[in-house]
Amino acid sequence: MRHLLSAGDLSAAQAIEVLDVAEQMAATSGRQINKLPALRGRTVVNLFYEDSTRTRLSFEAAAKRLSADVITFSAKGSSVSKGESLKDTALTLAAIGADAVVMRHPASGAAHRLATAGWIDAGVLNAGDGTHEHPTQALLDAMTLRRSLAGTTGDLAGMRVVIVGDVLHSRVARSNVLLLHTLGAHVTLVAPPTLLPVGVSAWPCEVRTDLDAALAGDDGPVDAVMVLRVQLERMEASFFPSAREYTRRYGVDATRLAGLPAHAVLLHPGPMNRGLEISAEAADGPRSRIVEQVANGVSTRMAALYLMLAGSETP
Ligand code: NCD
Repeated sequence: MRHLLSAGDLSAAQAIEVLDVAEQMAATSGRQINKLPALRGRTVVNLFYEDSTRTRLSFEAAAKRLSADVITFSAKGSSVSKGESLKDTALTLAAIGADAVVMRHPASGAAHRLATAGWIDAGVLNAGDGTHEHPTQALLDAMTLRRSLAGTTGDLAGMRVVIVGDVLHSRVARSNVLLLHTLGAHVTLVAPPTLLPVGVSAWPCEVRTDLDAALAGDDGPVDAVMVLRVQLERMEASFFPSAREYTRRYGVDATRLAGLPAHAVLLHPGPMNRGLEISAEAADGPRSRIVEQVANGVSTRMAALYLMLAGSETP
C-alpha cells in the first residue's frame, strides 16, 4: 500500500488484510509492554489543518506503539497561519525526512494533491479531507462491526447497516458506503432530503428519508446503526426547521433501538451532539460500541501505518 486516500481504492482482499493485521495489533495492546519495534527509525508526521480529537490522538498512539518517531503539526500556531502553502509545507516535511504523512484538511482532495503533486516522496494517509473521505474511520468501523459478529467468521457480507444523519457533510458516510459495499454489506443511508448530497443515488447503497421505516427492516433485520454528527460548523444556512424537529425524526434513542434485533449494535464516529442526533441513554447503553470504536481506531491505524511502511510481513 503506497498511500491510503480513499476507501474506494481498497479491494476486498486489501481491506481484509488491514482488518486482519489490525486484529493482530489489538492482540498486542493487552501486553504489559505494548510497543512493537516495526517502525523504529521511521518518521510519521501528523499534519492537521482541521480540528480533531480521536483521529489525531489515535494516529499518534498508533505510530508510537510501532516505535516510529512522531511529529504532530497543527496548522494553528504554525506558518500556515502566516499564509504558507501546502506545497511549501510539504517541501519542509520532505526535507525533515518524513516517511509517512497523516493529513486532515478542510479541502476535499487535499490528501490526493499531497500524494500526487511530486512535492514529497512519503506515503500519505488521508485522515479526513473536507466532506470527501475518511478511509481509516471506515476501516475502524468495519473492524468494530466485524467484532460485533461474535461467533462467526467476521465476514461482513450480507450484514445490514443503517447510516443516519448529516450525510451531506460527512466524509465518514462516503468512506463507509464504499468500504462496506466492497465487503459485501448492505447499506441504507437515512437523512432529511436537505442533508443528502447531489448524486447520492449513484452511490452503492439504498437511500431513504424515513428513519423508522429503515429501522423496521422490511427487507431484512438491521444489524447495526451508525449515527452521523450534525456538522453545524459546515452549515451556513439552516438545513432543518429546528433541532427539536431533527431529533424527533432522525434522533437515535433507546425507544428507536428497542425494536432492533438483540444483537444489533450502535456506532458513532464522534464527536457526538448528545441530545441532538443521539440520546445520552443510547450512547451509553448496552448496544453502544462507541468507546470500542476509538480503541479499534488505534489498532486499525497501526495496521495501516505498518502495511504502508513495513510491507506485508507478519508483525
Ligand atoms: C469525524 C470526522 O472528523 O470526519 N470524526 C472523526 O474522525 N472521529 C466525524 C465528525 O466530525 O462528525
